[in-house]
Amino acid sequence: MKKLFAVLGNPIGHSMSPVMHNDLFSFFNIDAHYLPFQVQEEDLQDAVNGLKALGAGGFNVTIPHKSSIIPFLDGVDELAASIGAVNTVVNEDGCLIGYNTDGPGFLKGLHAYLPVIKGKKVLVLGAGGAARAIYFTLAKEEPQAVDIANRTIDKAWSLINDCPYSISSSALSLADAEKKLADYDLIIQTTMIGMSPKIAEQPIYLDNLSKQSMVCDIIYNPFETQFLHDASIKGARIQNGIDMFVYQGALAFEKWTGIFPDVERMRENVLGQLG
Ligand code: ATR
Repeated sequence: MKKLFAVLGNPIGHSMSPVMHNDLFSFFNIDAHYLPFQVQEEDLQDAVNGLKALGAGGFNVTIPHKSSIIPFLDGVDELAASIGAVNTVVNEDGCLIGYNTDGPGFLKGLHAYLPVIKGKKVLVLGAGGAARAIYFTLAKEEPQAVDIANRTIDKAWSLINDCPYSISSSALSLADAEKKLADYDLIIQTTMIGMSPKIAEQPIYLDNLSKQSMVCDIIYNPFETQFLHDASIKGARIQNGIDMFVYQGALAFEKWTGIFPDVERMRENVLGQLG
C-alpha cells in the first residue's frame, strides 16, 4: 500500500519539497507519495493525529509550526529539543519522533565550501528559528567563536544562553556587526531580509567585509540576494540557501527510507522548480 508523506505549513503553496521528494520516491521505486497540507495553528494537533492514524511514514514541518508542533509529538531527539524546533518527523513503529535537519543540512552544505569550522570566527545575523538551528549545530564543530547580531539584542543573548554546548559568543547590534565584519571568517545571514519580493533590502552593509571571508545567505529566492551580491563584489566567497534546503531534505529522506539520496539530482530538481 502506498505510504503517505507530507509537509505541514501555512502558507504551503510554494513549497518545493513535494516535487523534490516525489521525484526521489519514484527514482528509488519506493511506493510512497508526499503531499503539502496547509494547516492553521488551531488545527495542528488534529493534523498530526490524522497523519498518525493514517499511518504516514513521516512528514516535514515548516513555518509557522516548527516549534508549536513539539507538544503533539511522542518524542523529540536531543538536538531538536535543544533548538526547540522540529522540521522532520518520523513514524517509528507508531510513535511520531521529531528531528531537526535544518542545522545539520546547513552544515553539510557548508562543508563543500568550508571543510573545517574548527578554530573559525563566525558571525550569525538573526536570532530566529533558522539561526537557532545553525548556531546549535555549529557550536559542536569547535569554532573559535560564534557571535550573533540581531535587531533585538535580547533575543540573541537568549539564544546564546540556551545553548548546551560551551562556546565563546557575544550578542551584537546589527550596527556593531557592520563595524566588526572584518574580524569574521564566516558570516551567515539567517533572516528573511532580502527575500523575494523585497529584494532590495539587506540586514547590514558590507563595506568592512574582508575578501578572505566566506558569506552565506539561507535565502535562495532570489538566487543571489543583494547581500550576497555585495559580498561577491567585495571579493568574498558566497553561498546561497539552496544547499541548506537540499541537504535538510536529503537528511529527512534518509531518516524516512534509510537511503541518503543524490543531492545533485535534488539540486537540479529545485533549480528546475525555481525556473
Ligand atoms: P525564522 O524562524 O525563519 O528564523 P523568525 O523567528 O521570525 O524567523 O526570525 C526572524 C529573524 O529576522 C529575527 O532575527 C528578526 O529579528 P528580531 O529578533 O529583532 O525580530 C529578524 N528580522 C526580521 N525582520 C527584520 C527587520 N526588518 N530588520 C532586522 N531584523 C529583522
